[in-house]
Amino acid sequence: MKILITGGAGYIGSHACVELLNAGYEIVIVDNLSNSKPEVLNRVRQLTGKDFKFYPANLLDITTLDAIFSENQIDAVIHFAGLKSVGESVTLPLWYYNNNITGTLRLCEVMKKYGVKKIVFSSSATVYGIPESVPISEECSLGATNPYGRTKQMIEEIFRDLNVSDPEWSVALLRYFNPIGAHNSGRIGEDPNGIPNNLLPYISQVAVGKQNELKVFGNDYPTKDGTGVRDYLHVVDLAIGHIRALEKVLRSTGVEAYNLGTGIGYSVLEMIDAFEKVSGRKIPYRIIERRPGDIGICYANPLKAKNELDWAAVKGIEEMCEDLWRWQSNNPNGYDTEVLVSAKIL
Ligand code: NAD
Ligand code: UD1
Repeated sequence: MKILITGGAGYIGSHACVELLNAGYEIVIVDNLSNSKPEVLNRVRQLTGKDFKFYPANLLDITTLDAIFSENQIDAVIHFAGLKSVGESVTLPLWYYNNNITGTLRLCEVMKKYGVKKIVFSSSATVYGIPESVPISEECSLGATNPYGRTKQMIEEIFRDLNVSDPEWSVALLRYFNPIGAHNSGRIGEDPNGIPNNLLPYISQVAVGKQNELKVFGNDYPTKDGTGVRDYLHVVDLAIGHIRALEKVLRSTGVEAYNLGTGIGYSVLEMIDAFEKVSGRKIPYRIIERRPGDIGICYANPLKAKNELDWAAVKGIEEMCEDLWRWQSNNPNGYDTEVLVSAKIL
């Protein structure tokens, strides 16, 4: 069984590649490395002892996409490739719409041409916008509040229309909550460009001294301690969720959305506390005003994934923080570490 992984060099994609290879799938990766480094591919090979083809290409390049499908007998696609920064999407909406939506349209065109109609898509809990109530179930109304989120919502609609036009299409729309952590080898993990936007990458950079202090965005939300509450899930649990979703799309047709989260919400202060305990490092922080556009509380009802995919997150926040800390402390400069070390030796 050969699976095309778009965005397989990225944070979640690389963890999914490890789980897929370990589960016996053959994979082919396409990634333009716009937000990832080629070193991750070496590490996926080292961790699994398995090899795979890599196409360093943009999804917008339909000629290369066509070549990928003609050179490989692809059975299904897991589609991670996309730009994901909310703030950047507000400043550069056309870039986001073009990359995420046109990229997906080109992928679907080529899939259609080669008769490949099975796909697992990286959607996001961001499609729910300001949640009507928590826990959030898949039936809750959608209302993304920024261009990034709207690309996800529009792509979900594109897949639904595709299935109406041809009911053989089989699509899992995976709405991730807040993936954190890293592979427990400490060899692959999240390597954000520049200053991290998200909480846990920021906390871990404070712990290694790359940032001075964490700014906590508001402590006046109607939550247990006033700080924002989110549903953090281990990236390896999330990666395994893709295998369950892949199995589902391979045996059925139709379009289904699934929340992938733990169903448990933790506040910013609880996450600081958990990270301090496992790392033994103090995380200095300062409360500042709310981040514009932030919501107070967001966590999943993950029962549909449990019932229909036989998937549930099993790793708790301690393990998430331990694995993140191992990755961050072993690789303080992300995937550049080895390059810097060898440059020093030379
Ligand atoms: P990431 O940026 O680490 O990975 C995305 C990969 O896609 C990168 O390697 C990038 O180089 C590649 N890419 C982007 N545009 C491309 C294009 N046009 N052609 C080829 N490759 C392209 O992000 P991630 O955190 O691994 O997220 C994976 C997917 O999950 C994204 O679609 C993201 O929107 C979605 N998602 C992520 C989160 C999160 O918190 N990380 C939450 C919800 C949804
Ligand atoms: C972000 C994205 C969202 C995406 C989600 C999962 C934004 C505005 N939203 O949301 O689209 O689906 O990640 O990847 O970027 N916090 C701080 N200080 C920080 C960083 C964060 O206090 O330096 C707080 C936030 O206010 C929030 C919590 O930590 O309460 C989590 O923030 P973050 O990691 O950015 O995730 P989301 O807000 O869920």
